[in-house]
Amino acid sequence: MKVLVTGGAGFIGSHLVRRLMALGHEVTVLDNLSTGVRAHLPEEGFTFWELDDRAPEARERIAAGHFDAIVHLAGQTMVDASIRDPHFDASENVLGTVNVLEAARYLALYQALYGLDYVVLRFANVYGERQGDKGEGDSYRSMLANEKAKASLHWQPEVSLEDGLRRTVAYFASAEL
Ligand SMILES: NC(=O)c1ccc[n+]([C@@H]2O[C@H](COP(=O)([O-])OP(=O)(O)OC[C@H]3O[C@@H](n4cnc5c(N)ncnc54)[C@H](O)[C@@H]3O)[C@@H](O)[C@H]2O)c1
Repeated sequence: MKVLVTGGAGFIGSHLVRRLMALGHEVTVLDNLSTGVRAHLPEEGFTFWELDDRAPEARERIAAGHFDAIVHLAGQTMVDASIRDPHFDASENVLGTVNVLEAARYLALYQALYGLDYVVLRFANVYGERQGDKGEGDSYRSMLANEKAKASLHWQPEVSLEDGLRRTVAYFASAEL
């Protein structure tokens, strides 16, 4: 399939892009690299558009791309920034999403004609490799951090945060879910 991943250079997106490529899909990433990192992704094997998803050019390119699937992960993910400046947050997360949906209008037509589904997911906090230290699911400032857990919960974690993350990711990578 031809798949567009917005926010593909981010934490979750970079895992998804690798997985889609491994499954043989033709992947395009759209990312403005505001919190994403180009080095999170493989050097080649997919198309990279460094673009803001609110830009008219993004809408034009997405519409012309005729993707089979779009995974929209681009967004303002800094929780403190969303509280400090709700207008900025809404601009990124609401207007960016509207622009992507507008560009993908043809998907609604496909749905009517062929029953193609779409889905909206609300992730719980996600942890793992390439996770930043400021966005959602910030494990380093959460109760999972050893020192904080000890002080606040009077609880002694059995493994370090890094080891726990590594073991959890390895478990889900190998589990047949
Ligand atoms: N990490 C979590 O625990 C968690 C939990 C719930 C929901 N989510 C959601 O999952 C998605 C991905 O989160 P993440 O943790 O990978 O965050 P992330 O910050 O690592 O990834 C977001 C990506 O979107 C890009 N981006 C931001 N604004 C953009 C714009 N205007 N145009 C184009 N690209 C833009 C960033 O450069 C970055 O690569 C987000 O929508 C986030 O709200 C994450």
